[in-house]
Amino acid sequence: MDIKDQTIQVIDKIKDIVGVGSKTLIGMDIGQSAIKFAEVSFNGKEYKLESYSHVRLPEAAIIEDEINKEEEIIAAIEEAFKAGKFGSKNVNIGIAGPNTVARKLQLAGGDDEEIEDQVIWEAEQYLPFSIDDCNVDHYVMGENEGGGIDVMIAAARKDVLMNFKSIVEKAGLKVKVADLSQLALCNIFELSMGDRLLEESMGTWIVLDIGAQKTELLIYKKGMPTFLKELNVGGGMITEEIQRQLGVNYNEAEDLKVTGDEQGNLPEEILEIMDDVVEAIFSEIKKTIDFYVSSTSDENFTGCTITGGSSLIPGLVEGLQALLSVEVEVMNPFDVMGYDTKYSEEEINDIAFKGATVLGLALRRLG
Ligand SMILES: Nc1ncnc2c1ncn2[C@@H]1O[C@H](COP(=O)(O)OP(=O)(O)OP(=O)(O)O)[C@@H](O)[C@H]1O
Ligand SMILES: [Mg+2]
Repeated sequence: MDIKDQTIQVIDKIKDIVGVGSKTLIGMDIGQSAIKFAEVSFNGKEYKLESYSHVRLPEAAIIEDEINKEEEIIAAIEEAFKAGKFGSKNVNIGIAGPNTVARKLQLAGGDDEEIEDQVIWEAEQYLPFSIDDCNVDHYVMGENEGGGIDVMIAAARKDVLMNFKSIVEKAGLKVKVADLSQLALCNIFELSMGDRLLEESMGTWIVLDIGAQKTELLIYKKGMPTFLKELNVGGGMITEEIQRQLGVNYNEAEDLKVTGDEQGNLPEEILEIMDDVVEAIFSEIKKTIDFYVSSTSDENFTGCTITGGSSLIPGLVEGLQALLSVEVEVMNPFDVMGYDTKYSEEEINDIAFKGATVLGLALRRLG
């Protein structure tokens, strides 16, 4: 059985396929708060951000993987794409949500066909939906200490892939690849870490992308992803609560949260809402880490990298540091990636926080 759908791949290992002269894809991330696009070039030595654009989405345009406001989303895609003046209409779109699975498995190994059989067998055990209804892909990460192989499998429901493909095509673009957002985050994290990734001192590392509706959590061990989980918590919960308690609309609540009142101060009631939501986010993170620790023998984390718009919540980095008892650093892809001079430092800083996933998606090349 051929489990690869040739028109839409859901996974690939970036390092194997990036090459000089390979065909660029534009990264496209449909997040809850915005549509984001990025084009990244590679000259054989250095990656460079050529173009980036984003357009805010209205309230609840998308919830998890459900498209609620199709017309508004299409309009936002068209506007953002036009603004970015990109070199191609071929996109790699990020897929996330409850109808996707990314998981590292340990398999016996063998030739390609044997591995594929093992992947199908294992995938059937782990997928919360029928294997016939989804695209499943895998890559072999390497041999493990037990004499078998480590394999990353990625799956996404076909109907979800098709819904996203259709909406993007209605906006005039071509979906060439759909990567799981979690794996795009892996790719940008690995790139951002540079040589540190494979150093012994890297040990076990936590990666967090705290967005509006979700938090992606990755655990890296010895430079490889070993655990991936999507948590249903994010900064959007603050916006909702501001709307409810202060009786303002979505845009007003977002502005109040991000820029504060007319003097640029965050009112006391907003700070209280933030504290409560941050506590809820931290509790989910802690629960997941505790689960990981109890199901593996790992308990010594070396560090944590965070990204996502909600990591800008005042005091979040310090709070997380206390929660996890490890050093927390903010991911900065521009430590290793160049950027076009049309961008100011302030814009680049903003992209570093909110654009990690879309930058990861833009690293993909057509083979
Ligand atoms: N300075 C700030 N303080 C607090 N929150 C902020 C700040 N700037 C942005 N945010 C919040 O970050 C979120 C947007 O971050 P991001 O762009 O990473 O999310 P997203 O990718 O759209 O969402 P998701 O991945 O969950 O679908 C919004 O909830 C926004 O209000
Ligand atoms: Mg996001």
